[in-house]
Amino acid sequence: MRRIAVLASGRGSNLQAVLDAIAAGQLDAEIVGVFSDKPGAPALQRVPAALRWSADARDYADRDAFDAVLAAAVAERQPDWVLCAGYMRILGEAFIAGLRGRLLNIHPSLLPRFRGLRTHARALAAGEREHGASVHFVTPELDAGAVIAQAVVPVLAGDDAESLAARVLAVEHPLLIATLRLAVSGRLAERGATVMADGHPLFTPL
Ligand code: GAR
Repeated sequence: MRRIAVLASGRGSNLQAVLDAIAAGQLDAEIVGVFSDKPGAPALQRVPAALRWSADARDYADRDAFDAVLAAAVAERQPDWVLCAGYMRILGEAFIAGLRGRLLNIHPSLLPRFRGLRTHARALAAGEREHGASVHFVTPELDAGAVIAQAVVPVLAGDDAESLAARVLAVEHPLLIATLRLAVSGRLAERGATVMADGHPLFTPL
């Protein structure tokens, strides 16, 4: 069974979707640890205490110092895949390099549109008619790694950032499970900027 470590800073609804899919027999995997940069993150409470790890980034001299203890804690659990699910702290190059090809992120926009924060408000301000979520491999450039899968929702008249975020979140959960099913079945690989599924490029760059 594939081992998944989850990095989360907040609520943890994506983590819960993974836990639920595992419990329902829809995802052949186990969560081997939940890691947070916010010791009070509700996400941590979704797993037994033995699976929780957290540290306050403010207690460390710099990004690399924090990333080093995080990397060591994650490595101890020997994950096959590491998933950023609402992990709101930028990961440094050394951390990412150690997990390259096994590090995934779910991001609330149709990448490459709206990398970074406040994606829903920015999509509304830009007058987008469609918005959504992406799961991608993590690379040192923020939210710029190869996209594996996306889910699209309409932007509706009268939407505000909150209503749009809720519509996106509803599709994030099944999108994440579908992507993880591909990952844990060994059918997914990162080759440079290309995602390989079953040995074939998933997207052919234009
Ligand atoms: C989700 O919408 C996720 O896509 C987003 O944070 C939310 C976490 O929700 N991630 C990012 O913005 C990463 N930059 P959750 O804690 O309920 O899973």
